Amino acid sequence: MTITLKTEGDIQLKGTIKVPGDKSISHRSVMLGAIAEGKTKVYGLLTGEDCLNTIDCFRKMGVQIKREGNYVEIDGTGFNGLKEPDEILDVGNSGTTIRLMLGILAGAPFHTCLIGDDSIAKRPMDRVARPLRQMGARIDGRKNGSFTPISIRGGGLKGIEYSSPVASAQVKSSILLAGLHAEGMTTVIEPQSSRDHTERMLKAFGCEVEIDGLKTAIRGKQALKGTTIKVPGDISSAAFFLVAGAIVPNSELTIKNVGINSTRTGIIDVLKEMGANIIIEETESGEIEPAADISIKTSNLKGIEIGGDMIPRLIDEIPIIALAATQAEGVTIIKDAEELKVKETNRIDTVVRELSKMGARIEATDDGMIIYGGTDLRPSLVDSHGDHRIGMMLAIASCLAKGETVVENSEAISISYPNFFQHLEELKS
Ligand code: S3P
Repeated sequence: MTITLKTEGDIQLKGTIKVPGDKSISHRSVMLGAIAEGKTKVYGLLTGEDCLNTIDCFRKMGVQIKREGNYVEIDGTGFNGLKEPDEILDVGNSGTTIRLMLGILAGAPFHTCLIGDDSIAKRPMDRVARPLRQMGARIDGRKNGSFTPISIRGGGLKGIEYSSPVASAQVKSSILLAGLHAEGMTTVIEPQSSRDHTERMLKAFGCEVEIDGLKTAIRGKQALKGTTIKVPGDISSAAFFLVAGAIVPNSELTIKNVGINSTRTGIIDVLKEMGANIIIEETESGEIEPAADISIKTSNLKGIEIGGDMIPRLIDEIPIIALAATQAEGVTIIKDAEELKVKETNRIDTVVRELSKMGARIEATDDGMIIYGGTDLRPSLVDSHGDHRIGMMLAIASCLAKGETVVENSEAISISYPNFFQHLEELKS
């Protein structure tokens, strides 16, 4: 699908919106709800395509999941109640679904085949397959077992201590979920902290998780009990409108009920450091996940350097931060972000290529990018390359480019933010 975005005269973004539920938390609520004993109610679940794929996979393993009014109810089978699927499980575009599900399936004594779309076929699965094999799972796939289609036969796991070469919540979560069904303790040590939604949610389902700095450990054979989960708005979706509010002239907007887990708030810290007028009002201190209303006004941004421990806290926000940097005074340097190369697209390449088409001065580096600020963006024919976050970043960029910006493959946006264009139109005045 191609969308044409027209910007006539000066537009401004004003008003209040509520972004859809957090994608990471939504996936985990379905997965843990499925393997828990008893019913789980999930309020605010994201119904973007990635999460629908997670739901579909668990239905194919015999779990009943249904919408009931304003919540989704999962009738947990308990881990031993999962059934060998008759069909291949298709994760679509979702890296979180496949990597976390491999962790769960590593403990399941049956055979499962998993596939995804063309993007998933390029993304490395060895980062989870290697430790899961060490625990005892039998995993095979294309290119020496590292890429989809991938198959797994689980069961009989033993706990391990694993030092992960990458700060990845998908890797950490996959191993911890396998650890739940392993003998003894399973420990993951990360080079830097990644998002901790799995650990928080395991506790909500009644499990003990030990956290000591960069070390996270779980004792095997713990049972999960169904619970009620409230999913806050996704800060990674809010990020598009936070940046839009800061860079589109005469704008002022509020986003309600956004998740502000500190492992995810790098975007807020960066916007503050760049000089944004941003106000955070905490609404939910949240044992499981805190939330806040966030307001932002048009701001004079300045270029900054972003790297190190900050990167995992804003990894998904780098495309929209790059757009903010094109409007800042001075240069922005993003480094230590090689992980961008293995996201839904190689986001160093796609950000640089597509923003350059709109007149940005931006260079790719080995581990990030350099963005020169103060550019006037012009309309262009651009492409999401099937990457939801690239598509949304380009749509926000179009607000500053007078004329017609055409975004190809814009349907990808429904992966994480099905009503994105509706919100964009509502805020325009
Ligand atoms: C996610 C973790 C991050 C993030 C992805 C969702 C998760 O990936 O980029 O969009 O839900 O665990 P990595 O953990 O691989 O960095």
